[in-house]
Amino acid sequence: MTTVMDIMDSQPRDAGPASWHRAAMRLASRLAAAAGLIGAHRDVLAARPAGSGVPAALDARGWTGFLADLGDASVDAFEIAGLDADWSAAPPSLAAMVAEARAVCAVPELTEGALGRDAPRHRRASRRGETPRKSAQIDAFAWVLLPIARDAGRIVDVGSGHGHLTRELEARLARPVLGLERDVRLTARARSLGGAFAETDVLRDGLPLEAGDCVVGLHACGELGDVMVRSAAEHRASIALVGCCLQKRRDDARVPLSEAEPVLATRLLGLSNLVAREEGVEASRADNLAARARRLALHRLLVERVGPLRLGAEMDGLNRRAAHADLSTLVERAFARRALAVPSAADVRAADAWAREEHARARRLSLPRALLARVLEVFVLADRACFLEAHDREVVVGRVFPAGVSARNLALVSR
Ligand SMILES: C[S@@+](CC[C@H](N)C(=O)[O-])C[C@H]1O[C@@H](n2cnc3c(N)ncnc32)[C@H](O)[C@@H]1O
Repeated sequence: MTTVMDIMDSQPRDAGPASWHRAAMRLASRLAAAAGLIGAHRDVLAARPAGSGVPAALDARGWTGFLADLGDASVDAFEIAGLDADWSAAPPSLAAMVAEARAVCAVPELTEGALGRDAPRHRRASRRGETPRKSAQIDAFAWVLLPIARDAGRIVDVGSGHGHLTRELEARLARPVLGLERDVRLTARARSLGGAFAETDVLRDGLPLEAGDCVVGLHACGELGDVMVRSAAEHRASIALVGCCLQKRRDDARVPLSEAEPVLATRLLGLSNLVAREEGVEASRADNLAARARRLALHRLLVERVGPLRLGAEMDGLNRRAAHADLSTLVERAFARRALAVPSAADVRAADAWAREEHARARRLSLPRALLARVLEVFVLADRACFLEAHDREVVVGRVFPAGVSARNLALVSR
């Protein structure tokens, strides 16, 4: 297995879009290290605490006592800071896993010094409808990708959504950019704000690029990112990609594009979407934690009524924001959707008490698993990058904006 020191030694010091470099060894060793870490901790990744038992993977490593005894403040600190927290008091094998994961995930900053300086000059009326977070993402991503887009043949924005990035690139490059989007309502809204958009499902209809094209995607979800990378390699197009929601795939598993192992179950890839920061996109961290406990209570009530149910299925047919209402309202809505009689107030109270305790326990036992979430993300990033390199493309990978702007902030830029 590639060690931490191998990676530290091979860490690029001069990363950034202006300093293109062939990084075959660097990317390959990052990929190997991520794969090694995932392979050595497959049982930890699979160990989603459920029921009253302790996952065998944690017991076998001697981690359970340390985790179970953590106070609330420590759990908060470990959840928020993740790999950056001080894990020195943890059992040695857990601290070693953290050190390895830190090294694997230590990617360069692609926009070092650029953010903030560039953004205000580009604030225009046409940027209406963007949230401050989306504007910050676009400014950073544009800074990284403009060098490859400038000389491209056609420029295509995949999964263009409301078209904010599409319009911004058009304005900065003073040339047409085509947005591809499968959601009819989004293309209609995007067109009303200005720009050219085609309604297409890229997974179904394909992505016919030509040599010299530039394909970009900001938060192009799951399989979409893989299709973009494959097409860019095959047609010798440039690509700039920030992926997200790696679990959004048609298959049950993701087979690496490069020669790498392992094949990752789609369900497991959902773990890479974990957000631990203080403020969520829609709600505060405290609200999100309370909502998770409510979902657990709802899950228990449904299991009591209908029998075994996959965790997560309790929200089937409901928007996830529904879990931010009080528990009684959530239960009423979920039971109504299933045409079931609503449980008694006493049953709801009992489920609530049980869920709070269970949630506190599960948070502690989930910490090691959550630490590996970013490793999964880096593995997919490095796999895509190595695939492009194997097709003789130049590739840079790194962090494109701070986690506070979006936790899905890993970019790949290739020409
Ligand atoms: C997370 S959103 C990002 C939108 C936009 N790029 C942004 O940053 O605001 C992903 C977008 O990709 C679109 N999308 C997902 N799968 C697609 C597919 N197979 N073909 C085309 N668009 C797709 C979704 O409808 C959604 O608008």
